[in-house]
Amino acid sequence: MEFIRIAALAEIPEGEVRAYDTPSGRVAIAHIEHRLFAFGDECTHSGCSLAEGKLDDRKATVECPCHASVFDVETGEPVEGPAADPLPVFVAREEGGWIEVTTEPAGEG
Ligand code: FES
Repeated sequence: MEFIRIAALAEIPEGEVRAYDTPSGRVAIAHIEHRLFAFGDECTHSGCSLAEGKLDDRKATVECPCHASVFDVETGEPVEGPAADPLPVFVAREEGGWIEVTTEPAGEG
């Protein structure tokens, strides 16, 4: 698995989510209780930015700002519609104060 460095850990306070451009598209990173979750930033319903939505750090879900679809940030699965398709998810890790994510979505090589 290949990782790329995309941001300093300090850029994403705990309980928040930010999106970054990567070679595999725009990826949102959620920081929840010392864990990092990386997923496609584009809602699978109509493409709104999930980083503009609401992160629930207790349930580890994000709510789309446009039509309130809710996704599990760990699996990418929609838990509430209208979105029906899952988000791509990536492996994220912290290395010496930096956030790194895989260049390919999990399960694709
Ligand atoms: S674009 Fe996200 S719910 Fe419609």
